Amino acid sequence: MATAPELLATPDVVIRTMVETDVTSVVAIERAAYQFPWSEGIFRDCLRVGYVCRVAVAGDEVIGYGVMSVGAGEAHILNLCISDSYRCRGVGKRLLTYLVERGTAAGMSEAFLEVRPSNTSAIRLYLSVGFEQVGMRRGYYQAVGGREDAAVLKLALRPRRGSTR
Ligand SMILES: CC(C)(COP(=O)(O)OP(=O)(O)OC[C@H]1O[C@@H](n2cnc3c(N)ncnc32)[C@H](O)[C@@H]1OP(=O)(O)O)[C@@H](O)C(=O)NCCC(=O)NCCS
Repeated sequence: MATAPELLATPDVVIRTMVETDVTSVVAIERAAYQFPWSEGIFRDCLRVGYVCRVAVAGDEVIGYGVMSVGAGEAHILNLCISDSYRCRGVGKRLLTYLVERGTAAGMSEAFLEVRPSNTSAIRLYLSVGFEQVGMRRGYYQAVGGREDAAVLKLALRPRRGSTR
């Protein structure tokens, strides 16, 4: 697993491996972004079990993160979030593209994710990199006053030339 920072084309924004000391910043972004946020413990568990956990960093500031599991031929993007003040600058797309490339490099043949049908900005992002809706999970998400469905999106991953795993 790569630990060295990988420079993005966007000046001063770097994607690197998430570490324990990032979790406080990550949780602050998470709580600001979602009505039903992941707990600190969930992020720590994701690190502990070895999920692909990455942060986008501008200077010393964590401005976004992505979490993905890989296994049984499938990459599953579990969380992708950019700090409100850094949205619509291409960072989400770069982080998503990075995760897709990691899934491909790990030998996965497909990537999946769930998204609330009401989350139109995220859906536009996913469609823009080639994800397609392949199903709907009824009542998957917590929602105010009940449950909300999840759209299931899939992307076929193409092995890179020379990739051995
Ligand atoms: C979804 C999210 C990750 C997008 O991150 P971002 O850095 O703002 O996205 P980008 O600037 O890279 O945008 C990439 C594409 O996504 C789409 N998009 C992103 N924000 C959008 C918005 N507010 N309205 C419409 N389309 C949007 C566009 O297609 C955009 O491409 P374009 O700029 O060429 O039009 C971000 O809005 C976020 O963190 N939301 C809260 C958490 C969340 O909902 N995560 C997804 C859970 S499934």
